[in-house]
Amino acid sequence: MKKILAIESSCDETACAIIDEDLNVLSSVVTSQIDVHSRFGGVIPEVASRMHVEQISTIVKSAVDEANISVDDVDAIAYTIGPGLIGSLHVGGIAAKSLAFFYNKPLIGVHHLKGHIFINELIKPLQYPMMALVVSGGHTELVYIEDDEHFKIIGTTLDDAIGEAYDKVARVIHEAYPGGPVIDRLAKTGKKHYELPTPKVDGLNFSFSGLKNAVLQLARKQEALGLEIDKNDLAYAFQETALKSLVKKTKLALDMYPCKSVVLAGGVACNSRLREMMQEEIKDVDLILPPLKYCTDNALMIAVAAMHYYKHQKFVDFNASSMPSMSIED
Ligand code: KG4
Ligand code: ZN
Repeated sequence: MKKILAIESSCDETACAIIDEDLNVLSSVVTSQIDVHSRFGGVIPEVASRMHVEQISTIVKSAVDEANISVDDVDAIAYTIGPGLIGSLHVGGIAAKSLAFFYNKPLIGVHHLKGHIFINELIKPLQYPMMALVVSGGHTELVYIEDDEHFKIIGTTLDDAIGEAYDKVARVIHEAYPGGPVIDRLAKTGKKHYELPTPKVDGLNFSFSGLKNAVLQLARKQEALGLEIDKNDLAYAFQETALKSLVKKTKLALDMYPCKSVVLAGGVACNSRLREMMQEEIKDVDLILPPLKYCTDNALMIAVAAMHYYKHQKFVDFNASSMPSMSIED
């Protein structure tokens, strides 16, 4: 039975996981730096890389111990090669290369977003062609997936990523990083009160900076008038407007590119309202919503994706560079 050890370190989680080819999880260890970064209101790249350096060996050792195997027993070492923060990616890359060199194993460089997509296989087999709505801190993409090797970006954000917009809106109302879970919670008791402009972009692309700026203007105006902003109502208005545009474009994408299944992927897939809207609106195709524990960054997702790379014998050399802006089409 083939086994893969995978490392994830693209942003602010240091993680290592081991799975076998039947997708049994032998171990999955994640440590998050969120408490440190939330003090600064966002991820500080230099701090993130230093913390990865401090954590990586312990995390890998914990994953190997938990799986109760030796690194010698795995068939390949995988790591996130991009996209992400360059310093953070390097730490995972160096750790993976050191293990691959020492134990003489093939090396697999996994695209982070493919990890977010393929982890849904732990729920059920994926049916192609498939549409992925990838929503994270750095990306907002509609990806048409013909099979497990062919990915085509058919829609993307022209400015901010959706997760980034959530984080910025939270900052405007003086809430902590990461903003997504906070806005999600506040919006639950918010009501229709503030009007925000609906993003207007043709075709399958997205835009969130106009909406984000409208939130900022509204908050400043209230402040200038000496009025307190209702955080719940603002969170509600922002979230309803932003998520409606995501769901609308996903439906349009399915009209243009008929698919057998749709998957939600990335950190924003945790959002309770987005999950509800997708269930209400996406009909006639198999809709796969990842369990919350799989939505945020982890190494299990890199291991599951790496099994596909292994099947296609797609390996990288020791001189492979980390790619901070790698496209899913590469
Ligand atoms: O995929 P991820 O863990 O890291 C990246 O690869 O970017 O996504 C992190 C993003 C953050 O912007 C965070 O605010 C957002 O996911 N997020 C949410 C929720 N939970 C996390 N956004 C909206 N609602 C949530 N419940
Ligand atoms: Zn991610």
